[in-house]
Amino acid sequence: MKNIAVFVSGNGTNLQAIIDNIANKSLKVRLALVVSDKKDAFALLRAKKAGKKILFLDPKEYGSKESYEKALISFLSKEKVDFIVLAGFMRILSPFFVRKYKNRILNIHPSLLPAFKGGSAIRDAFNYGVKTTGVTVHFVDEEVDHGPIIAQEPVEVLERDTEKSLEAKIHKVEHKLYSQIINRVSRGKYSVKDRKVVFCKKG
Ligand code: GRF
Repeated sequence: MKNIAVFVSGNGTNLQAIIDNIANKSLKVRLALVVSDKKDAFALLRAKKAGKKILFLDPKEYGSKESYEKALISFLSKEKVDFIVLAGFMRILSPFFVRKYKNRILNIHPSLLPAFKGGSAIRDAFNYGVKTTGVTVHFVDEEVDHGPIIAQEPVEVLERDTEKSLEAKIHKVEHKLYSQIINRVSRGKYSVKDRKVVFCKKG
């Protein structure tokens, strides 16, 4: 079974879904480590409650991004982490880190990329008046919200939707889709060429 580390900074509903899906055995990976850059992230309490190993690394205690990420890498190596799953992690990883885990870092974004990049994607899509938005799971590359797309699922915006109800619908999709994709990717039978993620038919 592959080892994953989940990186969080906030509420951690996606982390919770991953924890629950591992517990009910629909997600077949080992959650080796939950990493946070925020001491008071609610996600850390969720991890603790589930008995998962947690690591809070304070960026302020490191002189540079590279020294922070080197420390991160040493913990990840110690836990033999195969895949990194970003779930509301609010720090941008440097090219140094991204290259080290090339095509092994996943991110989930609450829009159909490349539309509505950035930290307020649900609000931006809602205010723009789109009729369809959705969820994207992608590999992380050197640019923000940019890497090769692994999966996308649309979410309809209805006339009666509010930003809040849209957010709830998007989260519901995220919680299911992320585990499905982590399962798929963790089997390791994929290639990435010219931004195209291709899964082998078998496996
Ligand atoms: C999610 O909407 C995810 O798409 C985005 O950050 C949010 C994290 O939410 N990257 P949570 O902390 O998992 O509840």
